[in-house]
Amino acid sequence: MSRIGEEVESAIEAVRLSLRTGQIVAFTGAGISAESHVPTFRGADGLWRNYSPEKLATAEAFESDPRLVWEWYDWLRGLIHAAQPNPGHLALTELQRRSPERFTLVTQNMDGLHEMAGSQDVVKLHGDIWRLRCVSCGREGRNEQTPMDHLPPICRCGGTLRPAIVWFGEMLPVDQWDRAMDASRSADVFVAIGTSALVYPAAGLVQVARQSGARVVIVNPDPTPADELATWILRGPAGEILPRLL
Ligand code: APR
Repeated sequence: MSRIGEEVESAIEAVRLSLRTGQIVAFTGAGISAESHVPTFRGADGLWRNYSPEKLATAEAFESDPRLVWEWYDWLRGLIHAAQPNPGHLALTELQRRSPERFTLVTQNMDGLHEMAGSQDVVKLHGDIWRLRCVSCGREGRNEQTPMDHLPPICRCGGTLRPAIVWFGEMLPVDQWDRAMDASRSADVFVAIGTSALVYPAAGLVQVARQSGARVVIVNPDPTPADELATWILRGPAGEILPRLL
C-alpha cells in the first residue's frame, strides 16, 4: 500500500518533467538507506538517539579509546554489510545512466550503497566506512572484513587504523567538497533526499543551489529546516518516491 498522498502525486509529475532538461544534483543523506535497514542518525530510532556521537565519532574519542570506537564501527559495518540497495538508490543510478553529463550524485552517506547500486563517480562528503586510514603514516586502503579480526586494526607501520570517514569537528575532503560546490552552483534542479539538513557544511549546499537559481526538491517523510527553500516537497519514503521520478 503506497504511503504517498494525493498532493505528492501531482508534485511528482512536475518534478519528473523538471528532470528532463538541465543540470541535476541529487544530494543524499541517511534516509535514503533507511529502507535498506541501515539506521539513520537522528530519526526515531536513530543512532545518535542511542549512542553518543561525542564518545564515538570524534578524533578525540578515538584517541582516548580506539577499541570502544572500533567495537561500535565493527558492529555498524556488520549491519551495513548485510544491507542491499533499495529502489531509491537504483532510481538514482538509472537517472545517472540516462543523462550522465547532466547528473551529479553528492552523498553524506558512508555506507557505499550508491556504488553497490551501480552509481558512478559519487561525490562522497563524509568518507567511506569500507576504507581505513592509519593515524600515524596516513596510509589508506579498502577493507571490507566484518567482523574485524583485531580491534583496533593495526597498520604495517605499527600505527592504529581508523575508519576513513569524516568525524565531527573534522574537515571534509577538499576535492569532494569543491566538486559538490561546483555542481550545486550550476544545478537547475537540486534534489535533497533523506537528509535532516542539520549538519554543516554539507547542509549548506541546499542554500547554495537555491541562491544560484536552482529549483529545490525535498524528498523526506518528515519536515526539515531546508523545506523553506523548496520549490517542491515530496513527503514520503525515498524508495517509493524516487522510482516515480523516472
Ligand atoms: N526516505 C527518505 N527520507 C527518510 C526516510 C526514507 N525512507 N526515513 C527517514 N528519512 C529522513 C528523516 O526524516 C531525516 O530527516 O532522513 C533524514 C535522516 O537524517 P539524519 O539521520 O540526520 O541523517 P543525515 O542528514 O544524513 O545526517 C548528516 O550527520 O551524523 C552525521 O556524518 C553523519 O552524514 C551524517 C550527517
